[in-house]
Amino acid sequence: MDLIKLKHVKLFKWHVKFFKWHVNALVSICVFLFILALIFRSLFLPASSAVGRFKNNEIELLKPWNVSMKFLEVPQIVWGLNNQKIAFARACLTSRMLNRTLLMPSLSASLFYKEIDRLQPISFDKVFNFERFNSLCDGFVRVSRYSDVRNESNLIEVQKGSGRRWTLERDLDQLKEFSKQDYDAYETIRVVGKNPFLWHDHWPVSDYAKVFECLVLVDEISKEADEVVSKIRAFGSETTSVSLYQTPYVAIHMRIEKDWMIHCKKREQRLNMSSICSSKEEITTRVANIQGLKPQTTLYLAVANELLEDDSVLNGWKQGMHPVDKKQLGLTEIYKNHSYLIQAAIDYEVCLRADVFVGNSFSTFSSLLVLERSQKMLKMGVSHACGTDVRWPSYAYNLKGENGGPRPWMTNFMDSSLEAISYGSNNVSC
Ligand SMILES: *[C@@H]1O[C@H](CO)[C@@H](O)[C@H](O)[C@H]1NC(C)=O
Ligand SMILES: *[C@@H]1O[C@H](CO)[C@@H](O)[C@H](O)[C@H]1NC(C)=O
Ligand SMILES: *[C@@H]1O[C@H](CO)[C@@H](O)[C@H](O)[C@H]1NC(C)=O
Ligand SMILES: *[C@@H]1O[C@H](CO)[C@@H](O)[C@H](O)[C@H]1NC(C)=O
Ligand SMILES: *[C@@H]1O[C@H](CO)[C@@H](O)[C@H](O)[C@H]1NC(C)=O
Repeated sequence: MDLIKLKHVKLFKWHVKFFKWHVNALVSICVFLFILALIFRSLFLPASSAVGRFKNNEIELLKPWNVSMKFLEVPQIVWGLNNQKIAFARACLTSRMLNRTLLMPSLSASLFYKEIDRLQPISFDKVFNFERFNSLCDGFVRVSRYSDVRNESNLIEVQKGSGRRWTLERDLDQLKEFSKQDYDAYETIRVVGKNPFLWHDHWPVSDYAKVFECLVLVDEISKEADEVVSKIRAFGSETTSVSLYQTPYVAIHMRIEKDWMIHCKKREQRLNMSSICSSKEEITTRVANIQGLKPQTTLYLAVANELLEDDSVLNGWKQGMHPVDKKQLGLTEIYKNHSYLIQAAIDYEVCLRADVFVGNSFSTFSSLLVLERSQKMLKMGVSHACGTDVRWPSYAYNLKGENGGPRPWMTNFMDSSLEAISYGSNNVSC
């Protein structure tokens, strides 16, 4: 008994000792910190503004782009909105491979293929939010302003190869060559020649998808899209008497203009296929057979401006389906105020937000839309989304599905190249 007591007493004493030592140490540390603070104060307080400057300089010096930023410059990006997005993504992925930052490229506001002088260069940040892009794509790719370049003459020009003999492998070898450290001495690598859309493709679909995800429209354009969407929903609630907030709409990207029809007939001949072109009749019939649409449905017809000239595009739809286009919504004036590129960007956004999307699997515009819509679904945990019972279904009207409807359509993110899924393809993985 006593022995145990004694042990306890000893233990208790030891505890007290330990505690005292602890307190002493704590006090010492506090005193030390206090003295340190005093020293610091005496050193820096007399010129308190200098502290701020000192800190700012330190932050600036820590920015990686101040020390070792290297850049990639690419030719002006041209053609349709979505060809430009693909070209931009390809330029980004190239810069990533070269371990460089992409210098903010010029996009083209107008849709000209041959007349180079009429392309109307427009800065990337007039269409897409520059800061958002870099924050969303942080750690993957980065875009810089030309003002970040320290020495403009420290540059090497690289000619992209072309022609039949310039194979995928040779192109890749060239990229590997220029990612070597020998070229670190050059602050900027400037690629000259073909626009990036025509460069060889070395990246999987998932890499492109990552870049597209970071492309957010600037506020002015996204507000215009808001307005279009709310007008469509208002039209829908008038015609279908569903309350404004829930009025769903189906967006249909109709490619039936004359120049597309000529182009797609040629494609059909060349590829020996019959499922690229769809007439207006085929589209209306397939849309009429989509299972699961409500009896009263609003259809937004995303059509080329030339088709807005006559109203026939609004006729011939199934009873209970209420088609509407920009002209009928009274939006032609708003659209007219903008260049081709901005108009396309607004239309794209409106189709992206639609509850159901129906497009042509051979169109780049439709393909990128489905890619982004599929990505939205994946984020919500839907991995296989072919059919009507999903949140953001998409369809290809040029391909026949069940019951005479259009084929459900979803992007396959496992594909190893963008070409396989995104343009000139009837692979809809459903
Ligand atoms: C760091 O870069 C910024 C612009 O990006 C520039 O204003 C600043 O002068 C640079 N600082 C140094 C130390 O190079
Ligand atoms: C990429 O560049 C950064 C600085 O620009 C450098 O620190 C890093 O080592 C480079 N990585 C490769 C794989 O070359
Ligand atoms: C800029 O780069 C060129 C070419 O590398 C070099 O000759 C020149 O000295 C550099 N200028 C400065 C100010 O570093
Ligand atoms: C085109 O395809 C059809 C079957 O789809 C085939 O019978 C025909 O021989 C093909 N023509 C050519 C020129 O390949
Ligand atoms: C078109 O732009 C002009 C000037 O930029 C502006 O005054 C006008 O309100 C705009 N029209 C529409 C319908 O937005």
